[in-house]
Amino acid sequence: MPTRRTFLTGTAALLTVPSVSFAGGANELRAAASRIQLAPEGYGRTDVWTYDGQVPGRVLRLRQGERLETTLVNDLPQPTTVHWHGIRLPNGMDGVPGMTQDAVAPGGRFDYAFSVPDAGTFWYHPHANSAEQIGRGLSGVLVVDEAEAPEVDRDEVIQLSDWRMTEDAQIDPSFGAMHDMSHAGRLGNWITVNGNGALSKPVRAGERLRLRLVNTATARVFALQLQGLEGWVMAVDGMPLDQPRTAGELLLGPAQRADLIVDVTAAPGEEAFLVSYERNGGYAVTAFPVSGEAAQGRRAAPKALPPNPVPEPVLGEGRTVAMPLEGGAMRGLQSASYEGRRLDWRALVQSGQFWAMGGVAGMPDAPLVEAARGETIRIPMENRTMFPHAMHLHGHHFREIGPDGQAGPLRDTTLIQPGETREIAFVADNPGDWMLHCHMLSHQMSGMGTWIRVA
Ligand code: C2O
Ligand code: CU
Repeated sequence: MPTRRTFLTGTAALLTVPSVSFAGGANELRAAASRIQLAPEGYGRTDVWTYDGQVPGRVLRLRQGERLETTLVNDLPQPTTVHWHGIRLPNGMDGVPGMTQDAVAPGGRFDYAFSVPDAGTFWYHPHANSAEQIGRGLSGVLVVDEAEAPEVDRDEVIQLSDWRMTEDAQIDPSFGAMHDMSHAGRLGNWITVNGNGALSKPVRAGERLRLRLVNTATARVFALQLQGLEGWVMAVDGMPLDQPRTAGELLLGPAQRADLIVDVTAAPGEEAFLVSYERNGGYAVTAFPVSGEAAQGRRAAPKALPPNPVPEPVLGEGRTVAMPLEGGAMRGLQSASYEGRRLDWRALVQSGQFWAMGGVAGMPDAPLVEAARGETIRIPMENRTMFPHAMHLHGHHFREIGPDGQAGPLRDTTLIQPGETREIAFVADNPGDWMLHCHMLSHQMSGMGTWIRVA
């Protein structure tokens, strides 16, 4: 397979992702196999799984408070569902098979209908066999517009995906490989932005862009930087920061999003870039060729985005339920213990479980927490493994509590590096059963999934 290009300027045609308003109307989301040009020209087309024949799926776009109504039609060879990642919706619409709905069998349909309480950048994906289903192409971005959107010249979705492909440009079928499950997950060898391996978006000097960065990779953490673009992080995981902060290096774990507002500072004739850095260097994930007149100085910083109506956890009254993350390769498995007892990892590994959360590997029969409605719950998560994890809570956004005990940004997915402890705190205000799991999907399928119940 092709390796990723290093700092090449893309010459590929501009790929536009059409958007659609889902307010009110009857619509379908058809999950089906398809064949598309995913690898560079010169390689053949790739068999993928798509929503409506496209990779990625359409950008679904609504205004805050509107209703999304769509029918999932399953033309895949296996059962599926849709999870609306980051949307605070009624439990029955959350798309978790065996928990909030039955999986939709091949040939079946399911109606999703809910309103979207928060403005921001969200996404949708299957929650059945998700390592394979997302890994084969099923995901799309869901944008909820503010009643009064900030003033920008362009509003662009940048959906990052990571594919593991074979030499003949097919999706590598080794989902559930033991090495991926027990290490850093299924890292790919081909990265696309909006389904394109060399995305180029022409801009004009001095323009102000809103970039909606969405990491839909199943394992890869992106370390992103801007070149020739300067600006601010306005929101993370769909939730506005109280104070926009200067956009420097930005770590984006699987399932995480960031909304930036940036100005084009590169000169006409140059190119600006969104760059991803990895151990062996950086590569451009998006190029922005600049045209027009030289810009006249910088514009004033944008105002913070209006806050979403998320209840504020009362930290002093919170109930704390610790959930250490344990297991995995490189000594994690052997050393894991729970309340002083060693876990029987030999038995776990035999059943395909490499990780434990709170001393339990895999979905437990009883919830991690049973919360009263309105209760503040605090879950410190110490990462005792040798790998990062991207922990996602369904149905709620949480505050990330810093080491100083201060409440950080609202998020739905927190990236926890080896050795680090991250505490999440939230008001359990959404009744039902909700998953809490690692969004490195090979980890989810091998032990890193649990759930909470809100009465
Ligand atoms: Cu993005 Cu449980 O999912
Ligand atoms: Cu993980």
